[in-house]
Amino acid sequence: MPATPPWSSNSPATATPRVSIQSFPEPRVFCAPSFVQRAWRGLMSVTRRFSESDRPELRRRLRGWKAGKIWTMLRGMAPPPAQREPSEEAKGAGRFGVEDKIALVTGGSRGIGKMIARGLVAGGAKVYITSRRGCEETAAELSAEGICLPLPADLSEEAGIRAIGEQLRAAEPALHVLVHAAGVHHVAPVEDHAAAAWDETWSVNVKSFFRLVQELLPGLRAASSPADPARVIALGSVDGLRVPQMDVYAYGASKAGLHHLVGHLARKLAREGITVNAISPGAFATDMLGAALETWGEEAVTRQIPMRRFGAPDDIEAAIRYLVSPGGSYVTGAILPVDGGLALV
Ligand SMILES: NC(=O)c1ccc[n+]([C@@H]2O[C@H](COP(=O)([O-])OP(=O)(O)OC[C@H]3O[C@@H](n4cnc5c(N)ncnc54)[C@H](OP(=O)(O)O)[C@@H]3O)[C@@H](O)[C@H]2O)c1
Repeated sequence: MPATPPWSSNSPATATPRVSIQSFPEPRVFCAPSFVQRAWRGLMSVTRRFSESDRPELRRRLRGWKAGKIWTMLRGMAPPPAQREPSEEAKGAGRFGVEDKIALVTGGSRGIGKMIARGLVAGGAKVYITSRRGCEETAAELSAEGICLPLPADLSEEAGIRAIGEQLRAAEPALHVLVHAAGVHHVAPVEDHAAAAWDETWSVNVKSFFRLVQELLPGLRAASSPADPARVIALGSVDGLRVPQMDVYAYGASKAGLHHLVGHLARKLAREGITVNAISPGAFATDMLGAALETWGEEAVTRQIPMRRFGAPDDIEAAIRYLVSPGGSYVTGAILPVDGGLALV
């Protein structure tokens, strides 16, 4: 008889003991879809986190619960957000960072200019502020948070503008940011709106802005790069966007003119890597708003604002950060209202 080959199932070498079919489990019918099973398993794993003694009470409470409540409970067991590391952007760095920029803020001694200077200083920029009075005190105050230096000057006079240009060019070969927040306004009826008021308003609000750009152009050019342009920002006004409600004829016209000049400069300087924009505030509780508050009272002024509140320092700081930071590098010629909708009224 020929030998059985070793690979044959009849070969004594490969023969294994036979298993009874009875010991193989019947297929089970799963009536629940798989996600329900997974949810159930998840719930069981949560249940196991409680001690043996608490489990009956836990099951009793869970029985009456709807899926939404269970989900809420599972989410509640995740680590609270406070324990998570804040992202770089949440810390203010990265896309909206202003660190290491060198900036000049005119009118930085008080009001909106001071809000802007404070925001830039706190963000790590080196900030020069200018005004006729009080800029040393403000610079000393803001220096507690970073670098802030005073440059007192009268911007209604050519000598003052030249002095700023000379001092800044000597101290800083590159200037990343110029913010023109210095401004004046006069309130008087048509027949009393004096020629001197027109001259001062246009000098400080419009002419000094243009002259400062001229004086500081070498520094702005030196600071600009294709990826990170130098920034020029003028503080316009809601009164330059619509017909003002108060008797501020020279002021309203100066702000409308300033908005126009911003567009003109933006188009001209874009190729040189310098963006030019305006922020147009609505009502911010500064010295300048004093006249409106005296005339109408706080409540009546607030009632005119669609968002029913004055602007806050954070509102202006956030707008400046956007325009000054890498996030705003492709924005030029914009007139950005920060006014709670006041320009729409
Ligand atoms: N507050 C608002 O609700 C509002 C609304 C729309 C637009 N704005 C605009 O926002 C900007 C800031 O306004 P604000 O409310 O902060 O005004 P503010 O409180 O009156 O401050 C004006 C700033 O400009 C300076 N300034 C005025 N004349 C100057 C001159 N000849 N030379 C140098 N600096 C001069 C002032 O300092 P010195 O007086 O010491 O020189 C001060 O630092 C202005 O352009 C304003 O038109 C404000």
